[in-house]
Amino acid sequence: TAIPVRDLLLERIRDVADYPKPGVMFKDITPLLADPAAFGALTESLAELCTRHGATKVVGLEARGFILAAPAALRAGLGFVPVRKAGKLPGATLAQAYELEYGTAEIEVHAEDLNAGDRVMVIDDVLATGGTAGASLQLIRRAGADVAGVAVLMELGFLNGRLRLAEELGGAPLEAL
Ligand code: PRP
Repeated sequence: TAIPVRDLLLERIRDVADYPKPGVMFKDITPLLADPAAFGALTESLAELCTRHGATKVVGLEARGFILAAPAALRAGLGFVPVRKAGKLPGATLAQAYELEYGTAEIEVHAEDLNAGDRVMVIDDVLATGGTAGASLQLIRRAGADVAGVAVLMELGFLNGRLRLAEELGGAPLEAL
């Protein structure tokens, strides 16, 4: 019988202790990306979530989110929209600042890429504090588009990102594979 997708994914995520700083356990997805069976199963699962939740567009969050969101969007027959760190997009943008543990960060999207009538699935590798995903949902709503949901490979439950995101989700699903 086939290995469950969850096991296939877990097997290919590498724990790296004390990276990028002491006390942090980094979740390295490069072994997963290098394995076409695991990467393919992940792409298939993310695409299926887009379809299930009625998405018409896919947003990926820089940088690792791009790697997962682009093939999933294509597989689901949807367009891909990059949400980038501030200062990287050449056209007219919408920007959203958000709180980090120390300081703030800012993300941007091309204003013309998200419009009223769009139903957007946000895809990223990791949900940690939920700050980045939350800011992306604010961008989507400010553009007049609807949120189909957020789909991530991993949710770091102990950081309570799901709780921080609850308000911005407004009832939309948060799916963690
Ligand atoms: C990581 C990760 C998510 C975000 C999650 O990205 O890929 O986008 O942090 O953290 P949060 O839930 O606390 O906001 P990072 O900023 O390291 O960027 P990268 O993908 O470009 O390495």
